[in-house]
Amino acid sequence: MSTVDQSVTLKEEDFSLDERLEGMRLAGLLTAQTLDMLVEHVAPGMRTDDLDKLAFEFAMDHDCIPAPLNYRGFKGSICTSLNHVVCHGIPGARTLKEGDIINLDVTLIKNGWHGDSSRMFPVGEISRKAERLINITYECLMRGLNVVKDGATTGDIGHAIQTYAESENCSIVREFCGHGLGRVFHTKPNILHYGEAGRGTRLESGMFFTIEPMINLGRPDVKVLGDGWTAVTRDKSLSAQFEHSIAVTDTGFEIFTKSPKNLDTPPYKLT
Ligand code: MF3
Ligand code: CO
Ligand code: CO
Repeated sequence: MSTVDQSVTLKEEDFSLDERLEGMRLAGLLTAQTLDMLVEHVAPGMRTDDLDKLAFEFAMDHDCIPAPLNYRGFKGSICTSLNHVVCHGIPGARTLKEGDIINLDVTLIKNGWHGDSSRMFPVGEISRKAERLINITYECLMRGLNVVKDGATTGDIGHAIQTYAESENCSIVREFCGHGLGRVFHTKPNILHYGEAGRGTRLESGMFFTIEPMINLGRPDVKVLGDGWTAVTRDKSLSAQFEHSIAVTDTGFEIFTKSPKNLDTPPYKLT
């Protein structure tokens, strides 16, 4: 890169809170719209790199940069994590099959600001245990979110998630965590998805970060495959993840990556 890139030269502290919020709201909206666009394309017969290409084209059409592309050598615009893949699945020739569950994780840079969000997508009819895992994982994200406010701590978030996941006999992946973001993709604070209430970093109004719990039906242990990216459950049990990018506010939080079409809530009903 030889051209001057504003995203590198202008730092977080060069912006007022209103400017920061405005930047994050637009990046978050475009990220959510990318995931909304993908919904109708998740179907048996689609390849994961077909989904990647659609996301890349959406980003180009909206003057966004897909942050994962070439990030530390990652080859893809999005992460596509199927079934027992915990996170960082690389798009490729794998074809979706009826009954698969897939996490699509989109990070877009718009005017230098990052929006980062992921959702679970069922491929056709899925098993009851897959449906249950998806619902529990979404509930983990929501319970983590709902304790966020000025004066709470990162440990409060982890504790809310851990308590619920373990009450449902699911396990929490410990090797990956949520992260601060803004002008930078991954920054402080680390948001662990387990922990003790009152511990960790104190949350302050104006902080931006993600919450992105990875929840397994079996044991928590993961390993990274030889490609250097794909993280899978060691026991091959199913894993699920949801992610939002948020701001801490005086009274609570604001979600930057909310779906304008309300497609970010699992529609699956447990009856
Ligand atoms: N989007 C992921 C996150 O939530 C990071 C993906 S990095 C990549 O933090 F290189 F794998 F794309
Ligand atoms: Co993230
Ligand atoms: Co992400």
